[in-house]
Amino acid sequence: MDFFELAKTRESCRSFSDKMVEPELLTKCVETARLAPSACNGQPWHFFAVSNEDKVKQIRTCVHTAGINAFAEKVPSFIVVVEEKTNISSRLGARINDNDYTQLDIGIACAHICFAASELGLSTCILGWFTEKGLKECLDIPKSKRIRLVIAVGYSDAKPIREKKRQPLAEILTQIK
Ligand SMILES: Cc1cc2nc3c(=O)[nH]c(=O)nc-3n(C[C@H](O)[C@H](O)[C@H](O)COP(=O)(O)O)c2cc1C
Repeated sequence: MDFFELAKTRESCRSFSDKMVEPELLTKCVETARLAPSACNGQPWHFFAVSNEDKVKQIRTCVHTAGINAFAEKVPSFIVVVEEKTNISSRLGARINDNDYTQLDIGIACAHICFAASELGLSTCILGWFTEKGLKECLDIPKSKRIRLVIAVGYSDAKPIREKKRQPLAEILTQIK
């Protein structure tokens, strides 16, 4: 698929089939996150690619809370994204420009993962709703770290692609020719 097609067809999946995800495919997705751009090349991230059945079960309970993300009960694998310390240049730039590059960097890396997954025939849903404490216990992540996102990864059993609900281009684009 070319990139424009990928951008059109990638969508958040909330209906996964029972098919397991090959761990090598998760590795491939994270490889594209590794190549993502980041402020001052700070690469402030660590990824846990989880397909182990017991761990997946535990992660489900951390992302499905308060009745939110119930679909996660069928998610076969997750990528958990932990923020790592960026480099001194990025930290300095962030302070001078008052801009949180670290979270921007992580967002870009996660986009790479989602597009890579689409290209591999997988579906994803980025999850910002989770109990961080439970995830840290499950994955032995130190309390001092921050988990920024979780990405559900699996094979979709949903029907055709939904229509995208987006603001019109004219509203979000100011083109200065
Ligand atoms: C930072 C972030 C957090 C999100 N958290 C959740 C979530 O916890 N549960 C969920 O079902 N979708 C979540 N989503 C998916 C969005 O709802 C979805 O991307 C948006 O509605 C656009 O739909 P699409 O991805 O199908 O194009 C999240 C997306 C982002 C980028």
